[in-house]
Amino acid sequence: MLQHLAWIVSLLLIAVIAGVFIHVVRQSQFADDEHTTAAAASKWRGRVFWTLGLLFVPIIAYSLTGLPYRVADAAQAPIVVEAKGYQWRWELSRNVVPVGQPIEFHVTADDVNHGFSLYDADLKLKAQTQAMPGVTNVLRYTFTAPGTYKVLCLEYCGLAHHNMTAEIQVVAE
Ligand code: CUA
Repeated sequence: MLQHLAWIVSLLLIAVIAGVFIHVVRQSQFADDEHTTAAAASKWRGRVFWTLGLLFVPIIAYSLTGLPYRVADAAQAPIVVEAKGYQWRWELSRNVVPVGQPIEFHVTADDVNHGFSLYDADLKLKAQTQAMPGVTNVLRYTFTAPGTYKVLCLEYCGLAHHNMTAEIQVVAE
């Protein structure tokens, strides 16, 4: 949805820039003395400045209204799941979690880099982060539907990389 909107806005901006170019090319055919050119330019400079100011100040102000981004619902402490990658398996501190509650995966690795990823039953990617030795990456995710989710490895980590799977049951409370 957002990507679609961004695509349309980009197309419109490209069209506007193309229009300006065409206008400049056409105007360049007419000779003009430098005083009129300078006066017209300064008039336009003012207009453009105020147009951009009036457009961008509210847009930027609006885009900041989400701040500070909620780390997690303050009323609901997240459920912590420790996840550690090994060649070639996942070790999870629990593999049954409730639906609709924020889960905080603390993801790390024992040996080499792995890619920790959560897939739903239709194998649609829901969330992912790197699993790195010596580093704990925090991945916050709230499951919105119950079911069997898969943990797969998204980074080639050796011969049995493809076998590196685990399951998480998401249950209604
Ligand atoms: Cu672990 Cu690929």
